[in-house]
Amino acid sequence: MKDLLRTADLSRADVDLLLDTAAKFATDPLRSKDALANRTVAIYMTKPSTRTRLASETAVAHLGGTPIFIRGDDLQIGRGETIADTARVISGFCSALLIRTFNQSDVDELGAHATIPIINGLTDTDHPTQLLADWATIREVFGNEIKGRKFTYIGDGNNMAHAWLAMGAIMGAHVVVSTPTGKWAPDNEAIATARKIAESTGATVEIDHDPENAAKGSSVLYTDVWMSMGDPESERTEKLKALAPYQINSHLMGLSEKDSIFLHCLPAHRGEEVTAEVIDGNQSHIWREAFHRRTTIQAIMYHLVRGELTGRA
Ligand code: CP
Ligand code: NVA
Repeated sequence: MKDLLRTADLSRADVDLLLDTAAKFATDPLRSKDALANRTVAIYMTKPSTRTRLASETAVAHLGGTPIFIRGDDLQIGRGETIADTARVISGFCSALLIRTFNQSDVDELGAHATIPIINGLTDTDHPTQLLADWATIREVFGNEIKGRKFTYIGDGNNMAHAWLAMGAIMGAHVVVSTPTGKWAPDNEAIATARKIAESTGATVEIDHDPENAAKGSSVLYTDVWMSMGDPESERTEKLKALAPYQINSHLMGLSEKDSIFLHCLPAHRGEEVTAEVIDGNQSHIWREAFHRRTTIQAIMYHLVRGELTGRA
């Protein structure tokens, strides 16, 4: 596998390798400090970022390389240069490129024309690097034995919901996504992909529009912002109203397992998708999760550049 374009591209063996390596980078960030010596990695973002940018730049530095951050407008793409031509040029300078943008098809096109690894740092439909940090955190808390546990995302049926389904399926987990029906439900394609993966991993993929039922007996309750980057402001009022029953609060946490944890990719809006009581409470593991953005991106860069990920067959 040359690129990490989609969460669903990863095999279980890839995830295990990445999480093992991330655990090593957690305790010893400089253990591969020459892996990218005298090399550069481009980080190109057409949307804002706190964690993904800082984690990526830090990861490259810890691998001995130099990150080159490029803001959306800075490239000639904005003036009509094609993605294919841009991909060829960046391939001549850099050892990898992490991109955050709107359309998944732009990331796919970069992957098709670049000779270097392309890493999806978030699109409108997916967020693969986030899911590795989430599962690094889950593994630290619950270990590898996840049978009988329920992993539940409650909120908007967005990029995070899609990625949650795909990774849960890869991990063979009982994975649940609970969103309103209609406009803010996850894309059918993402559900179909997760169900397809589940056929070979033994995962259970459940879409449950009732948030209380979804929360019941869960080991993880996960949520994300209700207004994502690029969502139309004109829909805010309607959307927040539709999502109100999906707020993770102490009532929903109370329905989950006794040893359950709360996760959130961040940024968070306290009082919208989650209450302050929950996100700042003692079941919340959000800071460890954010910490793992660096360890897992470092692992992705390390293994992709060495050509050590196989992808799903
Ligand atoms: N979780 C996440 O991707 O955060 P940023 O948008 O700050 O990068
Ligand atoms: N769904 C959010 C995730 C942010 C990390 C967004 O796309 O803005």
